[in-house]
Amino acid sequence: MNPFQAPAGTRDVLDPESARFAFVLERFSKRVRRAGYGLVISPMFEDLGVFNRSIGEDSEVVTKEMYEFDDKGGRRLALRPEGTASVVRAFVQHRPQIPWKAWYATPAFRYERPQAGRYRQHHQVGVEALGSDDPDLDVEVIALLDGYLRDLGLRSLDLRINSMGDLACRPGYESDLRAFLEVNVDGLCKEHRETWHRNPMRVLDCKRPPCIELRSRAPRLRESLCDDCARHFARVLEGLDALGIRYEQDDFLVRGFDYYTRTTFEVASGVLDAAQNAVGGGGRYDGLTELLGGPPTPGVGFGSGIERVLLAGEAEGLFGDLDSHVDVFVVDLTGGAQARDLTHLLRGAGLSTDRAFDDRSMKAQLRQADRSGATVALIVGRDEVERDVVTIKLLRGTQAHHQEQTPRLDLIGRVKELLS
Ligand code: HAM
Repeated sequence: MNPFQAPAGTRDVLDPESARFAFVLERFSKRVRRAGYGLVISPMFEDLGVFNRSIGEDSEVVTKEMYEFDDKGGRRLALRPEGTASVVRAFVQHRPQIPWKAWYATPAFRYERPQAGRYRQHHQVGVEALGSDDPDLDVEVIALLDGYLRDLGLRSLDLRINSMGDLACRPGYESDLRAFLEVNVDGLCKEHRETWHRNPMRVLDCKRPPCIELRSRAPRLRESLCDDCARHFARVLEGLDALGIRYEQDDFLVRGFDYYTRTTFEVASGVLDAAQNAVGGGGRYDGLTELLGGPPTPGVGFGSGIERVLLAGEAEGLFGDLDSHVDVFVVDLTGGAQARDLTHLLRGAGLSTDRAFDDRSMKAQLRQADRSGATVALIVGRDEVERDVVTIKLLRGTQAHHQEQTPRLDLIGRVKELLS
């Protein structure tokens, strides 16, 4: 056995999977750029306080899953478990003009129990829009996530949405919930029996059967929303209706981060295991900039896991023929200098081209040409060099095996013609 393997819960993404990875990333970036979002690249690690304050000191992500470490200067740092906190920290630091619409693609690190679709390093694409509490911005963000997933071809998708209220109405609801849980504590799951009082809202999000049963009798936040939050939520739903985006309201969609206010949403894939079927999720976080020392600035965004999207795509039969391949393969029987010069020339002319190395036999080079997926093989032997021509052999398509010789001067034009 090799002495080293990728750490548990991490994976190497090799071609052809990486070609699908890149494809999804490109589709995402095109879509969000078209909607006015600019790329933000921020460090993969931050002062631990950035995450503790944003996500919440007693959230599962902070207490159980964070990769924390001291650097050699004694600073307490953490690898980012998600994208929002860093983007908001960057906003507070640089104070760009609002509305500030940012997108990102980043690895994220969480010490979770590894399984299919749940990793210790996963990759997220996401957006964050800061500087407006207009409910139409919530709609824009949700529409971006929905459009991105559907445009990839995913069909089995369910969008759930909820409102978490704000600082005006949530405290009142929380004390109602507290009172309810206090008299029903025996009905909670084992873990929440110990911890519910720290953050009673977390019980609503619990996936264990006793809590699921109990919450169905708990007071509903929907009924305690203040007028502003109720109006905001109604306008968000109206916007989704207007854009033809289907959703289901879910009173228990609380999500695992403390920063959310008002809208929260999540998209689940029907073809993934229920325990990790979320392909994207997000919401509004109108108090987060202040928690990180900035001026009051509302914000809304989402993150979507690339690995989950690829798993869902695979289960739905998508992304089949994306494997990366070249169009042209140069077979050199004269020692390699011809291949060196021709690949350079062809690549310069915009043709995707590869070659063999190590002066291998014609048979070996043709086998490699075939494996490369190339449509055209260019064969150069002594005879071709003397006559200043190249032999073109079609490896694929209706004319497979067709062979001809072309003067070097006409080579690029002829290859382009054959490929079209
Ligand atoms: P999140 O729901 O924790 O939200 O993660 C976003 C997405 O990342 C999930 O829907 C899922 O697709 C993927 N994901 C999360 N954890 C894992 C994992 N361990 N393995 C594989 N995929 C995973 C956030 O991170 C928020 N920052 C989203 C947000 C942005 N809210 C507002 N703005």
